[in-house]
Amino acid sequence: MRIDVLTLFPDYLAPLELSLIGKARRDGIVDLQVHDLRTWTHDRHRTVDDTPLGGGAGMVMKPEPWAEAFAAVRAVGQETLGADVEPLIVFPNPAGAPFAQATAQEWSQCEWIIFACGRYEGIDERVYEHLADTGYEIALASLGDYVLNGGEVAVLAITEAVVRLVPGVVGNAESLVEESHSDGLLEYPLYTRPASWSDPAGVLREAPQILLSGDHAKIAAWRHEQSVERTRQRRPDLLAEADGSGSSS
Ligand code: ADE
Repeated sequence: MRIDVLTLFPDYLAPLELSLIGKARRDGIVDLQVHDLRTWTHDRHRTVDDTPLGGGAGMVMKPEPWAEAFAAVRAVGQETLGADVEPLIVFPNPAGAPFAQATAQEWSQCEWIIFACGRYEGIDERVYEHLADTGYEIALASLGDYVLNGGEVAVLAITEAVVRLVPGVVGNAESLVEESHSDGLLEYPLYTRPASWSDPAGVLREAPQILLSGDHAKIAAWRHEQSVERTRQRRPDLLAEADGSGSSS
């Protein structure tokens, strides 16, 4: 998989050199390139923003650097991947569709994603129109109903959620099967040794006996019940979605 990130703050993406994602890069599973958007400015001040037409607070990102950046990054990517491969362009944006595990699953199958990190009030709308008219596939993705200062933190989160699903990145692929959200439910409670633990207050806390029974069918059934109950308590909205209630189809 190839990932390009366009940003005004390349250093923000440094954590993607660490841990599993860093290893996936070193192993050649993911080719991740971070680009400074100011590379595609041509004035002395390397200007990327201007005041909003029509007035209003803040600044808007100018269209020209973005259009040049996409063309340049597309050309470089296609040199490696082939001229027939097109990227998915993802704009992290609080006004986008909620990014969820299903999105991560879908994007983990992509050959190439370009993340475009907006800053300030946002990007000139004509950039999206231009990309759509040029035939790019674009997606706006929101991490949640709150506003960050820019797309970089969202790219860190989305990249981690997507790349860990790429085959070979997480050593034990089985661990991806039963985690929260993989089946629309929250994960069941986990325990390890010691099975009997005296906590610092002197209270003896026993792991559920069933986990020591060796009966895998019973354990699986117990875990499923726990998942359903936990989801009912913490995220009833997920159960409603799974039931199909709240959906018109
Ligand atoms: N940029 C600013 N806020 C954001 C959010 N909530 N999700 C994704 N990108 C963002």
